[in-house]
Amino acid sequence: MSASSDHPADIDFESLRGQIWLQLQRAVGERDHEWRTPVLAGVDADGLPQARTVVLRRADPNAGTLQVYTDSRSPKVAELQGQPHAVLVFWSRRLNWQLRARVTVQVQTGGEQVEAAWEQVSRTAAATDYLAPAAPGSVFASRAHGDHASHHLAVLLARIDALDWLELARDGHRRVRFDDSGACRLIP
Ligand SMILES: Cc1cc2nc3c(=O)[nH]c(=O)nc-3n(C[C@H](O)[C@H](O)[C@H](O)COP(=O)(O)O)c2cc1C
Repeated sequence: MSASSDHPADIDFESLRGQIWLQLQRAVGERDHEWRTPVLAGVDADGLPQARTVVLRRADPNAGTLQVYTDSRSPKVAELQGQPHAVLVFWSRRLNWQLRARVTVQVQTGGEQVEAAWEQVSRTAAATDYLAPAAPGSVFASRAHGDHASHHLAVLLARIDALDWLELARDGHRRVRFDDSGACRLIP
């Protein structure tokens, strides 16, 4: 890893990267972790910004990927299929950390990861969201149960291209950017 900064001794980048991933993994398992519900921002078909809150379902430090579940009929799916570059924004008051993850999103509507996700979701109350006959967001969407074999669960597999970490502190904020080549730098 290369590091360039005016204060190179200030931050152990490798340790920071590890702490960030640890928090992402905790957020998946801890219901009250503030990083559990990031905002996923992208661009719609008209090139206009679009953003929404999602639940972080998986964080894999080795693959450098994050996962979010959604309904394959939701507008964000068509958006991301047309334009896969997006940003996931996390904020934690407890940590005083903001994380902006620039990602490339692959929409998975079938296959091993989707079936594993469905296996997990189908045992929860949220399953009905993915079985409803009407797409989410439609007016008076019914929550009726459908055929379990024909769910609409999709996995958004977000590969991290760059991370922008900001720590708010009274004695001075710290900001570090990690990019996919492994380079990182402290931003003044
Ligand atoms: C706390 C919270 C968590 C949410 N989690 C998800 C989620 O994991 N997946 C999802 O598709 N929508 C989730 N939503 C709903 C989205 O924010 C959004 O309203 C919906 O998916 C439609 O977005 P779209 O029109 O951009 O596709 C969540 C909303 C809230 C308030």
